[in-house]
Order: sequence, then C-alpha cells, then structure tokens
Amino acid sequence: MDALERTLQSHPEAKMIYTIPDFQNPTGRTMSLERRQRLVELANQYDVLIVEDNPYGAIRYSGTPLPALKHFDTEGRVVHLGTFSKILSPGLRVGWLCSANPIMDTYTGFKQMDDVHTNIFAQMIADRYLENNDLTAHLKQIRKLYKKRKEVMVQSIDEYFPAGIKHSDPLGGLFIWVELPKSLDAQEVFKKCVDHKVAFVPGGPFAADGTADHAFRMSYANMPEEKIIEGMKRIGAVLTDVMAKKPSIRLS
Ligand SMILES: Cc1ncc(COP(=O)(O)O)c(C=O)c1O
Repeated sequence: MDALERTLQSHPEAKMIYTIPDFQNPTGRTMSLERRQRLVELANQYDVLIVEDNPYGAIRYSGTPLPALKHFDTEGRVVHLGTFSKILSPGLRVGWLCSANPIMDTYTGFKQMDDVHTNIFAQMIADRYLENNDLTAHLKQIRKLYKKRKEVMVQSIDEYFPAGIKHSDPLGGLFIWVELPKSLDAQEVFKKCVDHKVAFVPGGPFAADGTADHAFRMSYANMPEEKIIEGMKRIGAVLTDVMAKKPSIRLS
C-alpha cells in the first residue's frame, strides 16, 4: 500500500485502480483485511475509482471469507465485478457490475456503444439456471471438487518437482503459482513441456516489468486427478532435466 501511495502521488493524473482482491489471477493471492481498508482510504484520499474484479471469490475452500472492497465504500467509488464464468460456464460470458450512479449510467452508455448488448440468449440461460437450481449447493459441490484437485496438484508438485522451486498453496480460486530460480526462463521450460504434451501459462505476460519471467501459473480446474498427477510428473521431469544442466542454480 505504501508503494501504491507513492505511485498515486507521482501520478496525480491516475483515474482508476484495478485489482483482484480474492485469489488473484495469476498468483492466487488474497488481499488482507487491513490492506482492503487502506486501499479504499487511499482511493478516497487521492480521488480515484477502484475496479474490484471478483471472478474467484466464491471459490474458497478454507479460511474465512473477507469483506469485498465494496463493503468499505462510503463514497460510491468502488465498482464491483462478478461473473458466471468461473462458477457456471465460461462460455456464457455473462457477469454483473455493482456500482453507484453516475458510474452505472455512464458505464451502461459506453457498454452500449462497445458491444451493443450482452447476448440475450446467454442471459436467459443464466436466469433459467438460477430459477431452477440451487446455486449455493452447486458452489458447495465445485468447492469440494476444486479443493481435492488443488490438494492432488500440491502433493504431486512436492513429490515430482526438484528442490528449490517454490509454489503457492491457495485457499481458493483455480491456480497454483510456481516460482523457479530467477535465472530460469519459464517460457523456455514451457516449450520443453509442450514437447511432452503438458502445458502451463508462463508468468512473463502477467507482469509488465519482467518480474514474473521465472514464474508460471498452473490451473487444476478442469483435469481429473490422474491427469493432474501425470502432468506434474512430466513437468517435474522437464524441470529436473533443465536444472541438472544448470547446476549453478540448484538451491538445495
Ligand atoms: C481476472 C479475471 N476477471 C474476469 C474473468 C472472467 O471474465 P468474463 O466474465 O468476461 O468471462 C477472468 C477469467 O478469465 C479473470 O481471470
């Protein structure tokens, strides 16, 4: 938050802060309560909007849910976004936006110009689903499924990845973030992994300043357990090979 404040001071032209406070994409990190409060305070102080993008908040397996940034919004400057993409079907591309006026009116006008209208048929499918199904029960079911898949991935990483590689163990969301020794380029590892028919998302494009070139994101969302284990075995074998060829980077 100190770095954010310095940035707001040096960029008085800033209009908006975009953030994913719950199970961020790509790292899976969640913003603490104190930081949430401080972030809204800073937005008030420096007169900027906050866009709180929350596609993963409902997929929490453990720990206590934290209040949304919108919860601390006393000045109507937090725009909260939700979506059915991670809890129902990514293909629907139906979501929602909670905001005070005048932002909502302005947004509605711009959206109209941008995409003319959110697909009506997809909205009707979402509406019918909500009418005829128990979303809370569905969420319970997918949390259980993703928790299990996450555990299988974490256990397989610990078993098959060489020492010296860090990984997250998220409390929710869909991703595990892996950090290689800094001298390794995840893009290079990625190419070798694809030769073994397994893939992840290299970290580089997630950070404009090159600070994630050595990291990558793995999703456990849509693979059955046996495929997750096989995938971790293959990535682990590639990493073992790459690190053996660069003995100087072996950390332990
Ligand atoms: C940060 C973030 N926001 C939003 C979305 C979903 O967007 P949409 O509702 O347009 O499918 C995703 C999914 O990829 C995401 O990672």
